[in-house]
Amino acid sequence: MGYCGLDFGTSNSTLGIVDVRDGQEPHARLLPLEGEETTLPSALFFDFAAKREEFGRAAIQIYAEGADGRLMRSLKSVLGTDLIDMETQLDRRRISFRDVLKTLLREIKRRAEDQAGRPLTQVVHGRPVHFVDGDDAADQRAETALAEIARDIGYTDVSFQFEPIAAALDYERQVNAEEIALIADIGGGTSDFSIVRIGPERRRVADRGQDILASTGVRIGGTDFDRLLSLHGVMPHLGYQSRMKRAGLLAPNSYFNDLATWSKINFLYAPKVMAELRQVLRESARPELIERLIQVVEEHLGHRVAMTVERTKIRLSATAAQPGGTDLVVEIPFDFIERGLVMPFTVPGFAAATTPLTDGIAGMIRKALADSGLTRDRIDAVFLTGGSTLLPNVRASILRELPDARVVEGDKFGSVGLGLTLEAMRRYG
Ligand SMILES: Nc1ncnc2c1ncn2[C@@H]1O[C@H](COP(=O)(O)OP(=O)(O)OP(=O)(O)O)[C@@H](O)[C@H]1O
Ligand SMILES: [Mg+2]
Repeated sequence: MGYCGLDFGTSNSTLGIVDVRDGQEPHARLLPLEGEETTLPSALFFDFAAKREEFGRAAIQIYAEGADGRLMRSLKSVLGTDLIDMETQLDRRRISFRDVLKTLLREIKRRAEDQAGRPLTQVVHGRPVHFVDGDDAADQRAETALAEIARDIGYTDVSFQFEPIAAALDYERQVNAEEIALIADIGGGTSDFSIVRIGPERRRVADRGQDILASTGVRIGGTDFDRLLSLHGVMPHLGYQSRMKRAGLLAPNSYFNDLATWSKINFLYAPKVMAELRQVLRESARPELIERLIQVVEEHLGHRVAMTVERTKIRLSATAAQPGGTDLVVEIPFDFIERGLVMPFTVPGFAAATTPLTDGIAGMIRKALADSGLTRDRIDAVFLTGGSTLLPNVRASILRELPDARVVEGDKFGSVGLGLTLEAMRRYG
């Protein structure tokens, strides 16, 4: 009975088990992983003074309060890249990203076992359709790394299921008649789609391979929306695309790109970067802007900037949904950089800055349709899960591709984990 489903997400993770009681239907549920919450933000904070790790909301909180240490988020993005076995500096020791992932996943297992009251030894791990775009070997390496980590931390049986197929299994429990659905799972790191035939009868079939008509995915997720919003709305205030004294030159992009990318922020804190930035400052025609950049790097404010950007994205997303909301200007204070510094954001500005992403998502839906051999009018329902399906421009780009489909709102943060749990019951129960 030690089986579970594990959704290790770029932004949030969940873990589910099945309660089996005599005379009752088996009941799949997600376990509380942080207080009452069944989601654990996939974040760690290495506290240098206390020499310990914090996880999830607590990690983000203690970091935001200014504790000395190092915050790590978006770790799933490291899978399938060369970074996985690179080491990163933590105070006086060095640790590989593989070991950081192990630390986080071991803690999730430990908390879940506490809640379940039993050891968990068999796991169905979720995985995106593609960890890495257009590189099957890297995809395989990413899955292998996750499997190795799972075994190292004590799971004896480890298998995988695509995240959107898992979401389909969760959705299938609520349908009363056979239908063809497109499952859209847009999370923090990836956008995944599957076209599946589901229904009350199909649920009983052991091998569902026949019912999976297409699975596609692309590495576009909420953190990319954060990155483009940051480059569009925040980084220009720190000197992004500002002129240098020498005619025709602009400040180098790479610092701003790193600062706008969750998983790269810590790179800026390497000692050699500060020397480079001082050089940029000397050659800049807008030194007052580059000085802000230097301050952000010097004071290690990168994650605070990124968190403010993410909150702004969510505010814009809520603003766009209210009547007349698209005309509003949202003014965000950045006092932690400079007293009185305020940056304005608008819904159309956000939509324009992130069009490459919504276009990429629409393209993936078209690819799923092409792979399935179906015309779009054959899709009965579109099931929306993953936090980024709450973005109005993302929803609009999905629904433009499938104007006739019924829209079903999934549990935005829970469907994948529940589906993986159902799959674990089928495989190991
Ligand atoms: N109300 C909201 N509006 C827009 N975006 C939101 C909202 N709430 C959360 N998000 C975004 O959703 C993303 C997280 O979604 P989710 O938890 O589904 O991702 P994940 O499963 O961890 O990632 P992945 O499946 O890609 O590995 C974050 O980028 C977050 O900013
Ligand atoms: Mg997810």
